[in-house]
Amino acid sequence: MSKLVEMKNIYKSFFGVEVLHDVNFEVDPGEVVALCGENGAGKSTLMKILAAVYTCDSGEVLVGGNPAPKNATTLDMAGMGVSMIHQELNLMDHLTVAQNIFLTREIMGKNGLIDHRQMNVEAKKLLDMLGQSDIDPKEYVRNLKIAQKQMVEIAKAVSFDVKVLIMDEPTSMLTTRETTILFNLIRRLASEGMGIVYISHRLAEIKEVCDKVTILRDGNFIATKNVAEISEQEIANLMVGREVTYKVAGNFKGDPDDVLLEVKNVSDDFLQNLSFKVRRGEILGFSGLVGAGRSELMEFVFGIRKCKTGEIFVRGNKEVIRSPKDAIRLGLGFATEDRRQTGLLLRRSIRENINLIDHIRKPGNWLHAAEMADNTSRLIKELNIKCYSQDQYASDLSGGNQQKVVFSKWLLAEPEILILDEPTRGIDVGARAEIYDIIEKLADSGKAVVIVSSDLTEVLSVCQRVIIMHEGRITGELESEECTEEVIMQYATNVAAAKEGEKTA
Ligand SMILES: Nc1ncnc2c1ncn2[C@@H]1O[C@H](COP(=O)(O)OP(=O)(O)OP(=O)(O)O)[C@@H](O)[C@H]1O
Ligand SMILES: [Mg+2]
Repeated sequence: MSKLVEMKNIYKSFFGVEVLHDVNFEVDPGEVVALCGENGAGKSTLMKILAAVYTCDSGEVLVGGNPAPKNATTLDMAGMGVSMIHQELNLMDHLTVAQNIFLTREIMGKNGLIDHRQMNVEAKKLLDMLGQSDIDPKEYVRNLKIAQKQMVEIAKAVSFDVKVLIMDEPTSMLTTRETTILFNLIRRLASEGMGIVYISHRLAEIKEVCDKVTILRDGNFIATKNVAEISEQEIANLMVGREVTYKVAGNFKGDPDDVLLEVKNVSDDFLQNLSFKVRRGEILGFSGLVGAGRSELMEFVFGIRKCKTGEIFVRGNKEVIRSPKDAIRLGLGFATEDRRQTGLLLRRSIRENINLIDHIRKPGNWLHAAEMADNTSRLIKELNIKCYSQDQYASDLSGGNQQKVVFSKWLLAEPEILILDEPTRGIDVGARAEIYDIIEKLADSGKAVVIVSSDLTEVLSVCQRVIIMHEGRITGELESEECTEEVIMQYATNVAAAKEGEKTA
């Protein structure tokens, strides 16, 4: 039986810098193969070569034993059965869900016009299969939540005759419910003979859903192993090239009365009377399922969203925050969850991005070019951002390195109260541990940190106290020593609250 995918001796450079060096990669029919490696290792680039988004400098690509045509286009590869879900969302906001799913493959009616009704029907079937019956095919994509957008991308990717499905970090925007649906889908598609490439920094997922794992490091092929024969720790070590250590969050040791931020009684149509406090030196986590209202609450605090009621006290003083600018000047910072929409200026350099908030915070205080350059080199070094120069556009960085730029921008601005929404989305295991260290240092130096995270491992390893939300309400609050994945999930799905009678923290 011929291999489903064979990539042989692949080389690729960007602007004279080699990012793939003699890489081999294979997938058999019915196999789920994980592709692992640190941020910038070349995973997305290798898969974009398979989907013909990029052409390789040299090497061979075969699908089902047939060589890909010279200078193949993405449509050629789709014709050979290759479908790719990109790491960054690629939907058209001004089109409907159904129009996005069938973009360039619109269903035509007998009269030769696009048959919107039929497209809506077919889209609905796909969405139902993915457990997304609450998404209306006629809805504009711009009105969807980020997790819903990701599910639409998935529907789109499986909407035609696919033999090889590439998923580039599909779960980084999903939480448990959607992830479970996705894994069931992956297993079913594989059992029907589809080959699946699965890229993720969540090693537990790889153990759960993949058969094999191929590891890249700095553009080099390191190994391919059976997942059953390798531990998460061993995968991490091979990715990084040294031993990676994990840790567990400690307790809050500061003064419980030194409250830096207090938020009281925030309500609107969805959010129901939410209140919380965070003290100097504390790392507070917000856990819950996607759509629980955590990001909405933080948007209110940061002056992005209006609510019916709600009060904010900063260092004990009641404040009215009407815009992010107000928030920044009061010493707040907010790294949003969607780096491409709100976190980065994509067509600006790394340096401009990193120095952005500092500018807003110190109005009239011009930064010297040299100071900006120094700040940038320091942060590139500290966070190990993989780039050729600080003049490089943010858009050309790998996904995880873009996320590091967002984080650096807020580090440089030194807010006293820092809110991080999904701070390590797409960040590799090694860099993650480094970011947790930095967060702990920030707290130790007297800052308050609020982390919204759907990643339970993250919550357990860095948050000293955790508030859990479910459908616009706070359903639980736990100290770090009371936290386990099971207990958090019970509150997040509201099972625990149902047991105890509605409990608000
Ligand atoms: N269009 C581009 N132009 C210039 N350089 C690029 C481009 N795309 C990728 N690179 C560079 O190629 C290298 C590999 O990037 P790639 O996106 O493949 O990494 P990755 O393994 O997917 O990382 P991550 O886990 O962060 O997504 C990086 O150093 C990146 O900056
Ligand atoms: Mg990538």
